[in-house]
Amino acid sequence: MSVNKQIIMKTRPEGMPKLENFEIIENNIPDIRHGEVLIKILWLSLDPYMRGRMSKAKSYAASLNEGDVIIGGAVGRVIKSETNEYKEGDIVEGFTLGWQAYAITTPASIRKINPDLAPIQTAVGVLGMPGMTAFFGLLYVGKPIPGDTVVVSAASGAVGQLVGQIAKIAGCHVVGIAGGKEKCDFLLNTLNFDAAIDYKNQNVDNMLDKYCPNGVNVYFDNVGGSITDSVINKLANYARVAVCGVISQYNLTAPEPGLRTHRAILTNQATTEGFLVFQFAQKYHIAIERMAKWIKEGKIIYKEDVVEGLENAPDAFIGLMNGKNFGKLLIKVSE
Ligand SMILES: NC(=O)c1ccc[n+]([C@@H]2O[C@H](COP(=O)([O-])OP(=O)(O)OC[C@H]3O[C@@H](n4cnc5c(N)ncnc54)[C@H](OP(=O)(O)O)[C@@H]3O)[C@@H](O)[C@H]2O)c1
Repeated sequence: MSVNKQIIMKTRPEGMPKLENFEIIENNIPDIRHGEVLIKILWLSLDPYMRGRMSKAKSYAASLNEGDVIIGGAVGRVIKSETNEYKEGDIVEGFTLGWQAYAITTPASIRKINPDLAPIQTAVGVLGMPGMTAFFGLLYVGKPIPGDTVVVSAASGAVGQLVGQIAKIAGCHVVGIAGGKEKCDFLLNTLNFDAAIDYKNQNVDNMLDKYCPNGVNVYFDNVGGSITDSVINKLANYARVAVCGVISQYNLTAPEPGLRTHRAILTNQATTEGFLVFQFAQKYHIAIERMAKWIKEGKIIYKEDVVEGLENAPDAFIGLMNGKNFGKLLIKVSE
């Protein structure tokens, strides 16, 4: 039997993850049993939520233990099946396939994807979890109406780039916040956002005053921290804040003081709502169909950041935590 390459969490990261927290190991692939499929991983999705899995802090999903293979979404090809549902050659996506060359799983943990719809790696990108997050988080939680000013942070990333484009389709004035000139130029020139704020080189408060003169009606928050403080202090009456992620907090060893912006929430009668994409799972088919149509019509484009080789996943993941990725971060594991 062939040998599997796996990346484990060797030690639990404290603060920003380091390469020494990860290790590549090799194991023989066991024979699959009745009810199982063997999948060759083709693409891995690297996502910020994985940092939460590496922490012991209470969350909506179980933490990894030292020695566990890193859990994560992936796209792969079925190479052996002992099930009625899957056959050799099927392309599948699964949320828990993990950082490894081969995965053994059951039909309940995977879904078949249609390779004719779009390139298969989009099943973990624009037509997968990040795409669903952007679609439902903006439209169902942010509830934009035409003419609204929508601000999105981490705006060039997997989720943010789609949020802004969907908000444009919804007839909104879109302001993206991202780190660096290159990312901001992309938002303006390629994605046609109305304005972009480079939070690393510009004063966010001043730029929000300039680009959101009537206040912010919808804030799609991917980052938390001081950027979010600035946006919340510019909310318009009855604004909606869709709390999607707080990446600025994921690697802190002690929490920042919080709730500094509640006065603005109160005085603007704003709504702040946290959401997890899985709460919309029953409706994913609606979003996949809609997003695929928008892609075909050229209304949505998606930028991917592809790193070759499973062994480079730890370094790429650390980069994701530091803003090195530019677009949806993927690891190309195999052809
Ligand atoms: N609620 C849900 O169900 C759900 C689902 C998916 C994702 N999320 C969350 O959505 C957010 C975006 O995820 P994604 O997959 O689209 O990642 P991403 O935006 O593709 O990558 C993360 C980006 O975050 C930015 N960033 C990193 N550290 C930061 C800091 N300290 N302050 C401000 N920005 C920082 C960087 O962009 P810059 O260079 O622009 O700083 C980096 O490129 C994350 O918080 C994630 O946890 C939530």
